[in-house]
Amino acid sequence: MAGRIPQEFLDQLLSRVDLVEVINTRVPLRRAGHDFMACCPFHAEKTPSFSVSPRKQFYHCFGCGAHGNAIGFLIAYERLEFLDAVEELARLAGLEIPKTGSGGGDASRALLEWLACADRFFRQQLREHPTRQHAVNYLRQRGLTGQIAGVFGIGYAPPGWDSLSRILRESGAQPEEIVNAGLASRDEQNRLRDRFRDRIIFPIRDRRGRIIAFGGRALDDVATPKYLNSPETSLFHKGSELYGLYEARTRIRRLQRLVVVEGYMDVVALAQHGISYAVATLGTATSAEHIERLFRVVNDLVFCFDGDRAGRTAGWRALETALPFLRDGRQISFLFLPDGEDPDSLVRREGQAVFEQRLEQATSLADYLFAELRTRVDPDTLAGRARLAELARPLLEKLPEGHFRDLMVARLRQEAQLINTRLRLPTPVSVRLSDNNAQLTRTPLRKAIALLLYRPELAQQVALDDPALQDSREPGVRLLANLLTILHAHPTLTIAALLERYRNTREGAILERLAQWRLETPEDEYQFEKEFADILNYLRRRADPAKQWLETLLQRRTPISREERKAFRNFDRFKKV
Ligand code: UTP
Ligand code: MN
Repeated sequence: MAGRIPQEFLDQLLSRVDLVEVINTRVPLRRAGHDFMACCPFHAEKTPSFSVSPRKQFYHCFGCGAHGNAIGFLIAYERLEFLDAVEELARLAGLEIPKTGSGGGDASRALLEWLACADRFFRQQLREHPTRQHAVNYLRQRGLTGQIAGVFGIGYAPPGWDSLSRILRESGAQPEEIVNAGLASRDEQNRLRDRFRDRIIFPIRDRRGRIIAFGGRALDDVATPKYLNSPETSLFHKGSELYGLYEARTRIRRLQRLVVVEGYMDVVALAQHGISYAVATLGTATSAEHIERLFRVVNDLVFCFDGDRAGRTAGWRALETALPFLRDGRQISFLFLPDGEDPDSLVRREGQAVFEQRLEQATSLADYLFAELRTRVDPDTLAGRARLAELARPLLEKLPEGHFRDLMVARLRQEAQLINTRLRLPTPVSVRLSDNNAQLTRTPLRKAIALLLYRPELAQQVALDDPALQDSREPGVRLLANLLTILHAHPTLTIAALLERYRNTREGAILERLAQWRLETPEDEYQFEKEFADILNYLRRRADPAKQWLETLLQRRTPISREERKAFRNFDRFKKV
């Protein structure tokens, strides 16, 4: 998907789908007054505290604080990424997502088509090419059955230097497209030369199952390079893709855990032995994008590395990359394999049960972190323990706030035996607005915003140049003015669509919490109007220049001059009129 999704489309989408319906098909709801209730799907509970408001098109759990609109629900419940959630809802609503922005749509559609065509070709060659036996024997010797080869779509690139390019040209591909898809390059005579020749082919699928690249393994251990991947293209970014993720997600309905390994063959061999939840990075170090993507799918990751030096280095780098993503409830462990083994060789020798036992006993991130740091200092000396704390501090600071971080800090105290030394961890800059327990005090301004979220029609009571909105030094006033501006331009916007505009912003976090306020006022239109009007009056009074000026004078340390006093009296008289 190229470019951003236009705001108007999201508005339309959220007004077209019914959140109650979206949730009800996944979590059966029961009517309770104006709202619907269920036991919360996001935490364990026996009495329902998960409420869905058809009016606001917003859900909220009074137990765990989970909340959001239809897009947010799919992201949280189905663990979809934003675009996929939008796509799913668009499908439900029978809407077509408009193509926008970078204009790459058609070009990438063509590339995808040629990649799919190449994939069919490679798989067909494995069945039909005269030298296919060579490839089939190789796969067999590595212990793979036809069934598993089928699951991963393994194919064979024949030896000729333009076998694929010729087929693609005959099917109508432009030479440029073949090159841009990463399937061929040009030689000195400007002729197309296939990238993959005489190799076993592993198609690489994106999260929607579309083929975006290939990996090719040489058929013997003499040919170099042993593995050849597609180059970076407009569709393929090595640093964020994971081989096997699509296959794992489609083969296991509710994935609990993913194992991250280093090679294609490791993924395929593990699946061959009943472990269908392995993925591989594509010859690159584990990146933040990888980790983000993995944590969208499961909360439990096991990283497998070779036991050698290179493996240890890669493991430590993965740990450092993962720290900022370790929110409460997520976990990472590390499995360092015996020297000279990789998951492929090990699972073939030991079988599924023993390998899964190894996974079960993998080292927790906490144990690994402190064990590694202890090897870098002398923990028997006071200086060594101080050094340990010094090395650990920047690492623990990367952890997001939460119980896990608190536990790690406690553990560091223990490890460093620095009970009497103050260990200062600065609180991170970002405020945790999503914290369910921290209540927002009910100031009049917040009340006004909450009322507006409850009854968006109230926006029509206020002109955009109302003096109540003039105090722009106050962030709350700016937010209120902002909401009113949007609601004036789009009077029929649902709250869900309104909140969607603030996704992932600081204001959005505040608005979501205000949207959950229970307003004690009876269901009487007039009451709401009156209360809203009262608050605006209060804001107008507060915005009074005389009052503001008085406040500055009172806060100032220097004495008030005679002129100032006189001017203020004038102001005062003016006010009484
Ligand atoms: P390994 O060298 O560990 O290979 O590379 P492997 O997976 O055990 O392969 P087999 O068992 O010999 O077939 C791990 C990964 O590093 C990338 C590939 O993604 C490979 O799966 N790699 C390796 C390359 O990209 N190019 C190479 O030449 C070698
Ligand atoms: Mn191997």
